[in-house]
Amino acid sequence: MSLVEKARAILRGNDRGGYAVPTDRLYPFQWNWDSGFVAMGWATFDEPRAWSELVFLLKGQWEDGMIPQIVFHAPSDDYFPGPDVWGIHRTPPTSGITQPPIIAVAALWLLRQARDVAAAEAQAAAMFPALLAHHRWWESARDPQRTGLVATLHPWETGMDNSPAWDVALDRVPTETTTEIRRRDTSHIDASMRPRGVEYQRFIHLVDLFRDHGWDPARMYEASPFRVADIGINAILLRAERDLLVLAERFGSVADRAEIAARIDRLAGGIARMWSDAHGLFLSRDLISGQPIPRPTSEGFLPVFAGAATPARVAAMAATVSVWRERAPWMVASSEPDNAVFEPKRYWRGPVWAVVNWMIADGFASYGEVALGADILDQTRKLIAQAGFSEYFDPTTGEGIGGADFSWTAAIYLMLARD
Ligand code: GLC
Repeated sequence: MSLVEKARAILRGNDRGGYAVPTDRLYPFQWNWDSGFVAMGWATFDEPRAWSELVFLLKGQWEDGMIPQIVFHAPSDDYFPGPDVWGIHRTPPTSGITQPPIIAVAALWLLRQARDVAAAEAQAAAMFPALLAHHRWWESARDPQRTGLVATLHPWETGMDNSPAWDVALDRVPTETTTEIRRRDTSHIDASMRPRGVEYQRFIHLVDLFRDHGWDPARMYEASPFRVADIGINAILLRAERDLLVLAERFGSVADRAEIAARIDRLAGGIARMWSDAHGLFLSRDLISGQPIPRPTSEGFLPVFAGAATPARVAAMAATVSVWRERAPWMVASSEPDNAVFEPKRYWRGPVWAVVNWMIADGFASYGEVALGADILDQTRKLIAQAGFSEYFDPTTGEGIGGADFSWTAAIYLMLARD
């Protein structure tokens, strides 16, 4: 079986009748940003199924525009915390926090590469109001003072759950929980490759707190002891706003376009202030202390994906990537390899993730760093060819770790195989 056939077989195997789970058992529901990438993977060989991925995700959207991190389409005992812990009584049940807003990027990507143009236009037109509502939610719920940076209230929202960038902010979160913690992930995967126990207690403390605040966005924003401006989310949102503006030219009104353009200006201004000359990349910011978080991670390169870097900053980031590569030859490590907190096998504290590589490579190429972009994609293909469709990879050895037969890794492979 060729790798393309294998990647398609993984998506089909993880399909649960219109949406795909990230991988069997470890993640038995639909995850928000996974589905954006997975839709792009489906689009390489099954366009109706690609749109369905996004349609199913939007079945979980809240009336205020929030798109949840998890949609619990069908019950499963394989994951903690399940719907009972979130206590959100909707149909389908969902979690109460969000994830990086890649969905508008996926929708435009599907439209642009469509062979069945009429069907794609109909889908994109139908979806446009939900995408617009989602971006409005980000600004109203997460940047109530219009600072130009949206806040993240839970490490799970960042998609980079145990990134070293969250250590100090997460330390402020108490470890007491009212929910009994019954982790399932460490019965599927070696515990040394997953977040630590104390981090899980803090993750669940936040879930308990938000549930006690009735999942009300304003009350959550005020009450959360964890409040950061994540450079990854802000960059992905800016890229998504730019892509939404393209969709708005086809499917939106003059007023929609003006509204989106104003948000683009605010976000671009906010992101520009996150640059660190000393580190040669962008940093996240702790919104409680008001200070930049001096922990370089791979998401600090994502402003290239958003068209939010100057040529001098792009050159500085390309140099930083080369320095990281000396210690961790498989690009792009998720945290700075030459740093005491670097752990090459622990989840977001070092490993390479194919989806992040795709965004960074796309961004560098768009700025004319074509060779670096191609190099990152080439390495991503090689990692998958030698180590399989793993959840993530050790950047020092290229070993595949975490869950196997992962949907978003398969999806990225399919997108790269088309290049
Ligand atoms: C983990 C990852 C997150 C991903 C989810 C499902 O929580 O950190 O980014 O969306 O798994 O794959």
